[in-house]
Parts: sequence; C-alpha cells; structure tokens
Amino acid sequence: MIIRSVIEGVGSYLPENIVTNAELSKRVDTSDEWITERTGIKQRHIAPKGQNTSDLAIAASKVALEAAGMDGRDIDMVIVATTTPDNTFPATAAKVQAALLKPGIPAFDVQAVCSGFVYSLAVANNFIKVGQVGTALVIGAETLSRFLDWTDRTSCVLFGDGAGAVVLKAGKGEGTSADRGILSTHLHSDGRYFDILQADGGVSSTQTSGLLRMKGKEVFRHAVVNLAETAREAIEANGVEFKDVDWLVPHQANLRILDSTSEKLGLSKDKVIVTVDKHANTSAASIPLALHQGISDGRIKKGQLLLMETMGGGFTWGSALVRL
Ligand code: UT7
Repeated sequence: MIIRSVIEGVGSYLPENIVTNAELSKRVDTSDEWITERTGIKQRHIAPKGQNTSDLAIAASKVALEAAGMDGRDIDMVIVATTTPDNTFPATAAKVQAALLKPGIPAFDVQAVCSGFVYSLAVANNFIKVGQVGTALVIGAETLSRFLDWTDRTSCVLFGDGAGAVVLKAGKGEGTSADRGILSTHLHSDGRYFDILQADGGVSSTQTSGLLRMKGKEVFRHAVVNLAETAREAIEANGVEFKDVDWLVPHQANLRILDSTSEKLGLSKDKVIVTVDKHANTSAASIPLALHQGISDGRIKKGQLLLMETMGGGFTWGSALVRL
C-alpha cells in the first residue's frame, strides 16, 4: 500500500468580460485572421479593474471544494501558482486562506510561470506522500492582462485571465498505474533562457513589475521539444504507453504547439483538451481550466488516465500523469 494524492474536486473561474480578436484589432495592428492562423486563439477573458488574482483564485476554489464535497475547514494546505500576485507580498495564497480556509495552515505561492500549476501539484503531492498533510488545495490563477504591453502586438494578443483549482486528498494505492491519484510528476528548468520569456522588471531590478516580453519563435522551438520529452518521461516512469492515455491536458499556449506535440507523441487530436481558442494563454491557470472544462462537458471521467504537460518562462517545464 502506498499513499496517492487523489484529485477529489476541480473548479475554475473566468472573468465575464470577453475580448475577441476583432475587438483587439481595433487596439493594435493585428487581425482575427493572423491570430487564428498562428495561434488558434479566438478570444480571451479579461478581468475588470478591481478584480484581482485572489478573487479569481477564490471563485475557482469554491467550485473545486464543492465538487470535492468539502468545505474550507477540510483543507490542510493551499498553494497558488501565479506570476501575477495581488501584491509583491504576502502571497496570494494568504488571501485564499483568509477567505475560505482554516487559519494556521501553510499557504504560499509558487512562481514557475506557465509551469506553476504542475510545479505546485508536485509540491502538494510530495507533502501528501510523506504524510505531512492529508488534503491540499492547488490553484493556478492569473491576471496576465495587467502586465501586458498593450501596444506590442507580438505578445498582447496571446494571453488572458482566469483561474483553476483542484482539491487533493490522500488515498491508498497499490503502487501501480491502475491507482487513482497523481502517479508521477517531472519538473525541469534551464535558466540560460531567462531572457527569452520574461517580465522586463521586478522589485529588485527596477522597482516595477515590468511588462511581459517574449521571443515567441524561440519559445516555440524549445516548447515542442521539451513538451514531447517530458511527456515521454511521464509515460516511461509509469510503465504505460501513449495509447493508455485517455486525455492530454496540456498548457494552452498555441494550437500549433498542441497539434505538433500530439503528432510527435502519436496521440490523436481528439484526445487533446483544447481551450486556447476560448481562453488564450492563461499561464499557470491554463491546465486546471482545461481540466475543469473537460470534466464539465463530460469528456473527462473518473478513472481515466490524464497526461498534463507544460512549458514556460525560466525556462521551466514538466509533466504530471494522473488517474482521475
Ligand atoms: O506560455 C509560455 C509559452 N509560450 C509559448 O509557447 C509561445 C510560443 N510562441 C508562439 O506561440 C509563436 O511564436 C507566436 C504566436 C508568438 C508567433 O508566431 P510566429 O509564427 O512565430 O510568428 P513570428 O513571430 O515569426 O511573426 C511573423 C510575422 C512578423 O512579421 P514579419 O517580420 O514577418 O513582417 C510579425 O511582426 O507576424 C508579425 N506579427 C503579427 N502580425 C499581426 C507578430 N504578431 C502579430 C500580430 N498580428 N499580433
């Protein structure tokens, strides 16, 4: 018998305000045609002024807790994966804890940009596996619209706001891939690529939060290779094959990246959960948002094998194999 971290509930939240490609093309020199063809994005949700990352995180968490049949008192730890915290400090997780959870539990943010959710899932999984906590709330939440350069057409069209959350609970397994729960996580980084995808400021360097800057083509090139590699290591570590995977639930940056990765892995496109068309790239929120979308529309079912994979600034990248 071993301990497994089982996903008991999933939730998400998207701000009401939707901005289409056509609307964006009135603000910058772009077109629906270019954005659709190069990225697959058709629209994104943008949080109004006054609605912050913690608000999205709290809304998503309420849905996840309800789905798990739990309330805030049942949660032993909360992690928020975000690059767009409400404040530089304290952690956005502190606001989630104050709003929904017991005082006294560990609450912290994880900063691994688009890989933040998979990193946080790995951290929470390890806390559960050593028996330090019995439950954990893991959230990916972003208001990326707040640190975009709205005059830079090469980046501002790509991102959106949103949040997704999962409730993990310690369960028992046999140590095989038939167990429910997180079967493995693999995390990586390579800081030599720091400048390729970054905010051009920070507390220490400029005393501002900076704006998002990306050399898109270079990120794309690395993403396709790194995503395929980390997906393969997840499969190999568990003695399963790609044909056993029911759903690829990837980070949503670009439809061309999703298509090219699934093709490399020999996974049919109908096994890939795609939300980039409706949400754009929501960084750490994109995987739990996609997971909740797949569960809500009835495609993803309890007991199925899910492969999550991601790549983002740092560079950071990683994967998680999970049986729901
Ligand atoms: O979540 C973190 C991971 N992030 C990613 O994985 C993003 C990875 N990168 C990408 O998704 C793609 O590289 C982009 C979508 C960012 C760009 O697509 P691309 O096919 O690599 O285009 P490009 O950067 O080579 O630009 C092609 C042309 C350029 O014009 P010229 O130099 O050929 O005349 C750009 O100036 O498209 C132009 N362009 C635009 N045109 C209309 C760039 N952005 C736009 C735009 N509208 N929004």
